[in-house]
Amino acid sequence: MGWLFGPSPVRSHHKHVVDVQAIDPEFSRSGPRVEAVRTARLLLRRWTPRDRSPFAEINADPEVMKYFRAPLERGDSDAFIDRIEAGFNTHGFGLWAVERLDQTGLIGFVGLSVPSFEASFAPCVEVGWRLAKSAWGCGYATEAARCAINAGFDQFGVDEIVSFTSTANAPSIAVMRRLGMHHDPADDFDHPMLPAGHPLQSHVLYRLSRDQTTD
Ligand SMILES: CC(C)(COP(=O)(O)OP(=O)(O)OC[C@H]1O[C@@H](n2cnc3c(N)ncnc32)[C@H](O)[C@@H]1OP(=O)(O)O)[C@@H](O)C(=O)NCCC(=O)NCCS
Repeated sequence: MGWLFGPSPVRSHHKHVVDVQAIDPEFSRSGPRVEAVRTARLLLRRWTPRDRSPFAEINADPEVMKYFRAPLERGDSDAFIDRIEAGFNTHGFGLWAVERLDQTGLIGFVGLSVPSFEASFAPCVEVGWRLAKSAWGCGYATEAARCAINAGFDQFGVDEIVSFTSTANAPSIAVMRRLGMHHDPADDFDHPMLPAGHPLQSHVLYRLSRDQTTD
């Protein structure tokens, strides 16, 4: 996947905008891997078997899944974790499992992924988030996403990170704006994985390039 990353596997010239501490970076032959990262209030880490049940609860919540086709059944939720973990093995990054530093237990995911569908802006690296309702309204998604974006730019040499969601998903769009991501209406698109005419088909795309980040 050389087209995703710059020539240098590790760069540290970019100052972090939050208190990010890579606590267990491993370096494989193919490049860096971030196993776990800490922000001021959160731990972003790889997934464990104990996460399967709380993740299934999050994915079964119709409010959490309001801007997706449907809530997920347990089997689909488990399969999602398996795909996330496979992605870590391929890219070194992924959708990290998130927990609070002051409380044990999964509150959701935040991280980086590589969308698999064809689009004008692909190939690309996307930052995304999904938190349990009990963790909304605390700034956790934005805090964790800043950390993920910094990892993308600093550890993985990504030059641009995008985020997209249904035009109707105001809470998610608010996270993108808080992150300082930029929106050009010319980038908006109909999600190709949704059937024509689906109420969630219309999507906005936000972008952030390495040189647009502020310290
Ligand atoms: C998208 C989602 C993560 C946004 O969650 P959120 O809690 O609104 O976003 P943040 O974690 O950034 O928190 C920001 C809120 O916390 C508040 N907040 C409270 N304490 C804070 C603190 N210490 N620091 C920062 N913000 C704080 C902010 O004021 C803001 O509230 P407001 O929206 O009322 O102004 C959440 O709605 C979600 O998981 N949705 C379901 C999944 C989904 O749709 N994902 C996106 C698909 S593309």
